[in-house]
Amino acid sequence: MKIAFFDTKPYDKPCFEQYGRRHGVLFKFFDTRLNEDTAGLAKGFDGVCVFVNDIVNANVIEKLYRYGVRVIALRCAGYNNVDVQHAFGKIHIFRVPAYSPYAVAEHTMALLLTSVRRIHKAYIRTRDFNFSLNGLTGFDLHGKTVGVVGTGKIGRIFIDICRGFGMHVIAYDKFPQPDSDIEYVPLEQLFADSDIISFHCPLTEETHHLLNADTIPTLKKGVVILNTSRGGLIDAGALLEGIKSRQIGAACLDVYEEESDIFFEDVSGHILDDDTLARLISMPNVILTSHQAFLTEEALANIAETTVSNIVSYFKDGFCENELCYHCGSIESCKKERKQKCF
Ligand code: NAI
Repeated sequence: MKIAFFDTKPYDKPCFEQYGRRHGVLFKFFDTRLNEDTAGLAKGFDGVCVFVNDIVNANVIEKLYRYGVRVIALRCAGYNNVDVQHAFGKIHIFRVPAYSPYAVAEHTMALLLTSVRRIHKAYIRTRDFNFSLNGLTGFDLHGKTVGVVGTGKIGRIFIDICRGFGMHVIAYDKFPQPDSDIEYVPLEQLFADSDIISFHCPLTEETHHLLNADTIPTLKKGVVILNTSRGGLIDAGALLEGIKSRQIGAACLDVYEEESDIFFEDVSGHILDDDTLARLISMPNVILTSHQAFLTEEALANIAETTVSNIVSYFKDGFCENELCYHCGSIESCKKERKQKCF
C-alpha cells in the first residue's frame, strides 16, 4: 500500500511513519499541496493522503484516477475541499471523523478566556516589565449566555465546558439531539440572546456566511464570536465592519475564509495581500490562531492511527466504516449500510 502524502508538516511525519510501518503502509511525504499542478506526483501510488488545504476538485480527481490512484485518505474531519460527488464511482474517500473533539473544544475555551481576560495583552506587557493593569479589565463568564451553533461531538463537549464555568447554554442545530439536556432555540433567537456565540457546525451551502451583513446587526451589542469550525461560516468583511461599528465586542478565530494560502505557513517575511485579514489581526479585540485547534499529541496520534486503519481496512477487508460518498446514508445507492464499499 503506497500512499503519496501531501502538504507534509514536521509534526505529521513521526506518527504516520510509526503507524504506517506497523501496518504495511508506505508513505512518501511531499511538502507541496495537492492541486492540478502537483497531482502528477501521485503517479504509481495506490492512494493520496490529504489535509484541509489540498485541492481535490473534479480536475484533480480525474488526473488521480488516470494515474491509477484509487483512494483519497483525508487526515481530517471536514471534507469541503473535496468534490465528493465527482469522485463517486471512481475514487474512494475516507476521513477521520473524530480525532480529539476535546482538543478543539478546549482550544475554543482557551481563546475565549484569553480574549475576555486580556491574557494576550498581559503576556506582552509583563515581558516588557510593564505591570500596569490599565485597559485589562475583563468580564466574568459565570452567568453569561453562550449560544452554540452545531451540537455534534465538539459542540457537545464545549457545552459541558461552558456549564462548568456556570454559563447558561443555548444551542441551535439543524438536527437536534433527541432527548438531550440541551436547550435548543431557533437560530434567530440564539443570535439575539447570546453574549458569546460559538460555531461548531460543518461548512455547507446552507451554513455558508451564517454571520453576514444582515445577521450581524441582529446580534447582542458587544457579543464575542468564536469560530473554530470553518472560516466560510462567517463573512470576514462583514465581521470586520461589525467590529469597527462596535456591534461585535471581540472575535476569536481559529479558521478564516481565505486561509488556504496563508494558514499553516510562515509568511512573516512577506507582505500580506489580504487587507481584511491584516485589518482583523490589527484589532486589539481579535485573536487569531492558525487552524491550530486540533493540534495536540493525542489528536495527532489518533489522526495517524485512524488514517492508516482506514487504508488497511479498504485494501484488506474491502470495507471501511469511515468511507464517505455522495450518497452516504441513502441505502439505495450507497452500499456502506450493508458493510460494503460505498460503490
Ligand atoms: P459533528 O459532525 O459531530 O457535528 C456537527 C453538528 O453540526 C451536527 O450536530 C450537525 O447536526 C450540525 N449541523 C449540520 N448542519 C447544520 C446546520 N445547517 N446548522 C446547524 N447545525 C448543523 O462534527 P464535529 O466533529 O463536532 O466538528 C464540527 C466542525 O469542527 C467540523 O465541521 C469541522 O469543520 C470543524 N473542525 C475544526 C478543527 C480545527 O482544528 N479547527 C478540527 C476538527 C473539526
